[in-house]
Amino acid sequence: MNVPYERKENESVSDDVVWHNTTVTHQDRVQLKKQQPVVLWFTGLSGSGKSTVANAVESKLLSLGKHSYLLDGDNVRHGLNKDLGFSDADRVENIRRIGEVAKLFVDSGAIVLTAFISPFISDRQQVRDLLDDSQFLEVFIDTPIEVCESRDPKGLYKKARAGEIKNFTGIDSEYQAPVNPEIHVKTADCTVEECAELVVRALQDKEYI
Ligand code: ADX
Repeated sequence: MNVPYERKENESVSDDVVWHNTTVTHQDRVQLKKQQPVVLWFTGLSGSGKSTVANAVESKLLSLGKHSYLLDGDNVRHGLNKDLGFSDADRVENIRRIGEVAKLFVDSGAIVLTAFISPFISDRQQVRDLLDDSQFLEVFIDTPIEVCESRDPKGLYKKARAGEIKNFTGIDSEYQAPVNPEIHVKTADCTVEECAELVVRALQDKEYI
């Protein structure tokens, strides 16, 4: 397995920024935690159920004694990414930063769950490319827009339809669905519990946990 967080050439703004290798290694942390670190990258429309299912998966992982961390779109936009809006350029930067953070958590040995709309295929691919092949699983929370809009938990579709919010995903901003996701969850067909179970079973089948 590759070391996931490693020195790269020409990646910093200055030649005076020098990479330090750490004494405690990724492999040490993996052995301590007795799990295979991975990013579960949830993607889907607003209101599709990404956060809900990711939370349920994280609870199940906890009860199995697995160390995880959930990065959630709305929460991260309160802190690390509070300077970013919803233009295409800001969404690209949002996902780039989250990819780097997810990579750090994977290096720490955690199972990382991310719940961002992440509407663009190229951005999700860029995060995949940051990681080792086995360390990125795309989880498509596949909920038809009509269902998301009928749930409208934050009243945002209503505002977007009324023109009060611009660049709203699925209304006047594009969502590019995954072509071949590792895990495909159709929330309209199952309960939250069943959806979470499907994700955990996939992790077990693929021998991450
Ligand atoms: S992403 O497109 O950059 O991946 P992210 O997941 O971080 O989006 O944030 C999406 C959340 O921001 C939505 O769940 C919703 O609560 C809120 N939001 C506010 N404005 C918008 C908008 N124009 N488009 C999509 N989501 C929005």
